[in-house]
Amino acid sequence: MVTDEHDRIFEDFERENGFSAMPEVVSEVLFALQSSRTTMHEIGEIIKRDPGFATRLIQYVNSGAYLTANPASSIDQAVRIIGLGPLKGLCLGIPVFSRYKHVLGVREIWAHSRATAICCQIVSEAVRFPEPDTAETAGLLHDIGKVVLAVSAGNFFLSQIQIADASKRDPDWKQEKELLGFNHCFIGGWFARKFKMPQSLVDAILWHHEYEKSRYGRDLACLCMVGDQIASAIGLTHPDDVFVDPGLVGALKHLGIDDELFRKILTHSLERVGRMVAYD
Ligand SMILES: [Fe+2]
Ligand SMILES: [Fe+2]
Repeated sequence: MVTDEHDRIFEDFERENGFSAMPEVVSEVLFALQSSRTTMHEIGEIIKRDPGFATRLIQYVNSGAYLTANPASSIDQAVRIIGLGPLKGLCLGIPVFSRYKHVLGVREIWAHSRATAICCQIVSEAVRFPEPDTAETAGLLHDIGKVVLAVSAGNFFLSQIQIADASKRDPDWKQEKELLGFNHCFIGGWFARKFKMPQSLVDAILWHHEYEKSRYGRDLACLCMVGDQIASAIGLTHPDDVFVDPGLVGALKHLGIDDELFRKILTHSLERVGRMVAYD
C-alpha cells in the first residue's frame, strides 16, 4: 500500500501541478531569475503581464510579511521590497496556495507558512544568518508538502491526522511516515527539487523537523524548525500541528540562541505576526 500510495500521490500531483499547470508568468520569472544579470525592473515588467499574480504579490507584501513604512502600491515597489531571492519561493508558493485555497486545511497551512516566513526572517536577523532571503523562503515553503497531501490524499489527510486525538498522538510528520511511508517534508523536498530550488533550501524543507539529518543546509533546516515552532507556539498553525518539538531546545542551542535572545525573538515575532493576522 505504501509504495502504491506514494506513487499515486506523486504522479497525480505532478500531472496537474507541474510547470505546465503554473501561470505562464511564473515560469518566465523563474527562468529570468536564473540569470544573475536580471534586474528588478525586468522582473517587474514580466509580472505585470499577469494582473492576477501581480495583485496577489502586492497583497502578500502588504499583508504584514515585511516591515514597510508605506504599503506597496505598484509591482515595482513590491518586487523591491521582496527582493529577488524570496521572489522565487513566492512564484511557487502563491500559485499553489491560491489555487487550492478552497481545499480543507489549505488556508490554515498558508497562514502558518506566512507566519513561519516572518519568524524565520526574525530568527535569521537575530543570529545574523548569512542568507536571510533563503531562510524566509524556507519558512514560506516548509510545509508545502502538506498542500500536496491535502489535495492528493485528502481523505487520508483528514481521517488519519486532523481528527485524531491530539493528546495521544505523535507529531503529524511521524504519523504520516508511519502510515504512508513518507511525510510532508519528503513531498516538499521533492517539490522544491522539481522547481530547481537551491540544494540548501531543498534540504531545509526536507529536514525541517529533523535538522540533524541535513547534509547540505543544517543551519538553515535548524533555523526553519525554530521559525516553524515559534509560529505554532504563538497560535499560527494548522489544526493538526499542536506540538512543541522536543528537539527545540537543542535547535536553539545549535543556533546560539540563549533565553534572553529567545525572549526578544518571541516578542518581535508576536508583534509582526499579530500585524499579519490583523490584516487578514
Ligand atoms: Fe512541517
Ligand atoms: Fe510547519
